[in-house]
Order: sequence, then structure tokens, then C-alpha cells
Amino acid sequence: MKILITAGPTREHLDPIRFISNRSTGKMGFAVAQAAAERGHTVTLIAGPVSLATPPGVTRVDVTSACEMLEAVQRALPKQDALVMSAAVADWRPIQKTATKLKKRDMEPVIHLVPNPDILKTILPEKENRLFVGFAAETGDPTAEAQRKLTAKGLDMIVANDVTAEGAGFAVDTNRVTFFTVNGQPQVLPLQSKLDVGRAIIAWLEGQ
Ligand code: CTP
Repeated sequence: MKILITAGPTREHLDPIRFISNRSTGKMGFAVAQAAAERGHTVTLIAGPVSLATPPGVTRVDVTSACEMLEAVQRALPKQDALVMSAAVADWRPIQKTATKLKKRDMEPVIHLVPNPDILKTILPEKENRLFVGFAAETGDPTAEAQRKLTAKGLDMIVANDVTAEGAGFAVDTNRVTFFTVNGQPQVLPLQSKLDVGRAIIAWLEGQ
């Protein structure tokens, strides 16, 4: 299969120095990319700003902002059989990014934001028979939000986790996730390495 994977956070700059972002490190998405390459799939990895090495055999495209990630996904999608959106896309961006550093004396203590595009919703009309997998990182039981996002974003499967659970979430090498699909029962996976979670996602894609 040809598999497109997004990973990491996006950064939404106010000026060349300051930005809004989130705690994603990219570990989960890079693990999915490694697992897919291990199985011989053709992997394109669109990465936000992270400090991780590219897994062997993976083609990597680096982006910074949500708008750049959307463009990179739109460019790569036509050739793909499946998309795994593990990136933690920032929902908002500052209304403008200045070319030079903002000076404190010229700034108001308010940041004006505009919504970023929802990448999955934007590309849904181009889905055709491709498989789309999303992620839902929630605080607390993710079931209701996972099911809502599965439908709202037109996904075939969503990988949900409670980032506050022991061994799950940001900057750790393990994760505890549940797979939600449109028709089947939720599949609760044990606490395991992010690489093994990645392998389970790839096995699920191969089984479709
Ligand atoms: N996603 C996306 N584009 C965005 C935000 C999220 O494609 N602008 C994708 C993520 O990559 C993930 C899924 O949508 O696969 C769910 O992301 P999440 O941030 O949980 O969803 P939101 O719709 O932003 O919901 P909320 O922030 O209200 O929980």
C-alpha cells in the first residue's frame, strides 16, 4: 500500500520568534511510519516541527503550520491508498504573522486568532476509496468524542486515547489506545510501545 502519515504538532507563528503550539512530540506518528515501512509499504511522512530521526525507507516532508500541512497533504493524497492523521494540528493561528520581531512596547496583551482549516474535513471530498485513520487524544474517557469525530470527519477508524492515563500521551514511548470503527465493536489495546500501536494500526489497514 501507499500510506500517507502526518505527525507532530504544528506551529502557528506570531512573528519569526514566537508561536502557538501544543505538546505533541511526533513519537506516535513516527512509530506508525516505521511500522508501515517495516511491512514494505511506501510511506510518506508529513512532519511538523519535531526532533526525531526519519525511520529508514520513509520519505519525509517537513512543514511548520497547519496551512502548510494541509497543502502538503493535498499534494500527496492523490497517489495514496491510506492516510493516518496522527498530527496534533493547532486549531487556531494568529490573525497575522509579522515579518520582523514584535516589540513588547508595540504589543497588546491580547492575541487575535482565526481558525485553522480542519485538514480531514477539507480533504474528505477527495477520499474516494482511500482508508482514513484519525486520532483523538482526550483527557478522560475518550469514547464519546472518538465516536463524534469518527462520524464528523468521515473516518474509517479512529485511534483514541486518554492522555492522562499512566503510560499514555505525550513524550512517552508507550500508549494505551482503543480503536473505534464505524461498524465494529471498539477494540481496546493493552499498554504497549508506540511502535507496537503503530504495528496494530498498519495490521488493521492491511485487513481492510
Ligand atoms: N485534525 C485535522 N485538522 C485539524 C485538527 C485536527 O485534520 N485542524 C485531525 C487530527 O489529526 C486527528 C483528528 O482530526 O486525526 C482529531 O483531532 P482533534 O484535535 O482531536 O480534533 P478537533 O476537531 O480539533 O477537536 P477538539 O480540539 O475540539 O477536541
